[in-house]
Amino acid sequence: MSFPDRHTLVLGIETSCDETAAALVLGGNDIASSVVSSQIDLHAAFGGVVPEIASRAHLDLLNPVIARAIVEAGVDEARIDAVACTVGPGLIGALLVGVSAAKALALAWDVPFVGVNHLEAHLYAALLEDPSTELPIVVLLVSGGHTMLVEMTAPGEYRLLGQTIDDAAGEAFDKVARFLGLGYPGGPAIEAIARQGDPTAIAFPRAMRDAEGDGRLDFSFSGLKTAVMYYVRKHPDADTADLAASFQEAVVDVLVHKARLAARDVGARGIALGGGVAANGRLREAMLDACAADGVRGYVPSPAMCTDNAAMIAAAGWHRLRLDGPTPLDAGAIPNLKLA
Ligand code: KG4
Ligand code: ZN
Repeated sequence: MSFPDRHTLVLGIETSCDETAAALVLGGNDIASSVVSSQIDLHAAFGGVVPEIASRAHLDLLNPVIARAIVEAGVDEARIDAVACTVGPGLIGALLVGVSAAKALALAWDVPFVGVNHLEAHLYAALLEDPSTELPIVVLLVSGGHTMLVEMTAPGEYRLLGQTIDDAAGEAFDKVARFLGLGYPGGPAIEAIARQGDPTAIAFPRAMRDAEGDGRLDFSFSGLKTAVMYYVRKHPDADTADLAASFQEAVVDVLVHKARLAARDVGARGIALGGGVAANGRLREAMLDACAADGVRGYVPSPAMCTDNAAMIAAAGWHRLRLDGPTPLDAGAIPNLKLA
C-alpha cells in the first residue's frame, strides 16, 4: 500500500485562534487522542480574542498539549509518521507558533510536514465521526470567522457555493451577546438564555433569505445585529430571553433555508454541519428536521468536533499527504488563506 495508508499515524496541531490543540489520528479517520486547551478565560475579560495574548498562550501551552496527546494515545513518539499543522487562515502570530513547532518536530523525527487549511479541516470534521458518509454532501461551515456553503464531492474536492457578504454567523452571535451584556463567547451564552425565551416574540429580519441570482446562496448578518440594537433602543424593557431566542431563530432560519437550497441545487445526498456555531442545539435540531423532510442525511458532528480541534487537522493532513505529498519546510503561514 502507498503512503499514507490506514496505518499512517498523523500528529495534528492547531493554533490558528484561541484554542491550542494536538491530536493523533490513524489512517485519516481513527482518533487515537484529541487534546484541546481553550484560552477563553484569558480573553473573556477583553470581550474577544486578543492576538498577542493568544500567541503567548500558544507558546506556553503547545508543548504540554502535544505531550498529552501522545501520552493519551499510548504510543511512542517514534511511531508518528507525519506532522500536520494549520497554516491558515488565522491570526499570524498564533499560526506561526504551531507552524514552527510542527516543522521542528517533523525535522527532528525525520517525517513529512503537511500544511493544512483550517477551513478544509472543518469539512473533514463532518466525515471523521461517520465514516459511512455518502458523497456528495453540502457542508454548512459556520464559525466565528466564516459562514459558507461548500459542496464536497470527494475528499479534497470541493466547491464554494455561497458565503457571507459581511459578518460571519458566529460573529453576529458574539456581537449581539456583547450588546445584550451576556459575555464572551456569545454563541453558548445566547443559546443558554434563549431556552427561556419565545423564538416568535420578535420578527427580526431574515436578510437575503429570498435573494435570487448571484446572492441566492449568500448570507448577510450585519443588518440583523443592527436590528437587535434598534429594537432594544426602542423597547428598553424587552425581555432578554425573548430577544436572544428571536435573534437565534432568525439566524437558524436563514442558515437552514440556504443549506436546503444548496443541497437541492447540487443533488447532495446529505447536509453536514461544521464550525463553532454548529454546536448550537437549535441549529442542529432544525437542520436534522429539514434533512428528514427533504429525504437527505443530516450529519451533525459532536459539539467538540464542531469547534476548533486538532483531530480534524490530522485527518485533513492525511488526505493532503495522499493527494499532494509533503509540504516543503520553507512554506509559511498564510493568515488570509481561502478555501478554494
Ligand atoms: O470554529 P470556532 O470554534 O472558531 C473559529 O474558527 O471561528 O467558532 C467559534 C464561534 C464563536 O463565534 C462562538 O460564539 C460560536 O462559534 N459558537 C456558537 C456556539 N458555540 C460556539 N454559536 C452559537 N451557539 C453555540 N452553542
Ligand atoms: Zn474554526
